[in-house]
Amino acid sequence: MFPRTRMRRLRRSQLIRDFVRETQIDIKDLIYPFFVEEGLSDKKPISAMPNQFRYSIDSLVKKLGDLVEIGIPAIILFGIPAEKDSLASSAYDKNGIIQQAVRKLKEEFGEDLIVITDICLCEYTDHGHCGIVRGNEILNDETLELLAKTALSHAEAGADIVAPSDMMDGRVGAIRAALDKEGFSDTLIMSYAAKYASTFYGPFREAAESAPSFGDRRSYQMDPRNVNEALREVYLDIQEGADIIMVKPALSYLDVLYRVKKDFGYPTAAYNVSGEYTMIKLMVEKGYIKEKDAVFEVLNSIKRAGADMILTYFAEDVARWLRGEV
Ligand code: PBG
Repeated sequence: MFPRTRMRRLRRSQLIRDFVRETQIDIKDLIYPFFVEEGLSDKKPISAMPNQFRYSIDSLVKKLGDLVEIGIPAIILFGIPAEKDSLASSAYDKNGIIQQAVRKLKEEFGEDLIVITDICLCEYTDHGHCGIVRGNEILNDETLELLAKTALSHAEAGADIVAPSDMMDGRVGAIRAALDKEGFSDTLIMSYAAKYASTFYGPFREAAESAPSFGDRRSYQMDPRNVNEALREVYLDIQEGADIIMVKPALSYLDVLYRVKKDFGYPTAAYNVSGEYTMIKLMVEKGYIKEKDAVFEVLNSIKRAGADMILTYFAEDVARWLRGEV
């Protein structure tokens, strides 16, 4: 009781505050998302995401050389193909942009970099939906086969982890079965288990050219009003063989993240998505907030809520800040 107990004693100096901190961001927690575009000769800025780029394979290799050097452990790749069609053929083409990129990265960096590939059809379909479309319907079971083919082609190229983000039912099981059948039982699956139909993906859709040409994704991504449903999604993905589960987006879903980690105790990732990134960038541009303080506050909140890994476009900045470079 006051005055014997004084909480402010624990906040007296920076060193004491560091002593009693409950959460700490480590470089090894971070996964950096990258966009690779077929046919680019160099990197090209993404206007909706300040300081983020679409890369050619060569420019990506160069960039990752620097990032591996400063300790970034993992990346997740999104592909932008030259050709799109209704069946997303370039998603599972052995010489597709992701397959080529992964082969090159594995050749270059081997065990020094965890290469994760996003498994979804929306960047490869001409209609921009995450599954096969008939009329106005997104077909579930027909899509599974294409997702499994895509995952297998990424594993063959050398991907360490495949990460299905499509939200079709049964896709984790379908992918696990396809991988195991072809001898890729060591390839991990990180499933976007609780992925919400969020408005905060806005900038990403410009970055990855994946906005749906009609309708929206609410018939497959989750309703932001629900949390019990997220626990069921996670339970099912674990049953189907997911090794790591993800909650996405992060900031508006910290309660979901907390419950997922608490209830299942699985390796859990959270995706600090494009809109959450650009929101900070724009406030920094306006001079309303300090970037480093904002980023650490956000990432600490995500970690405090239960994330073991965080997918974030701030990964490089954080790595440099943690190293005391800037
Ligand atoms: C593909 C996919 C999306 C994101 C990751 N994978 C977009 C979407 O579902 O529309 C969003 C990532 C971000 O906003 O940073 N389905």
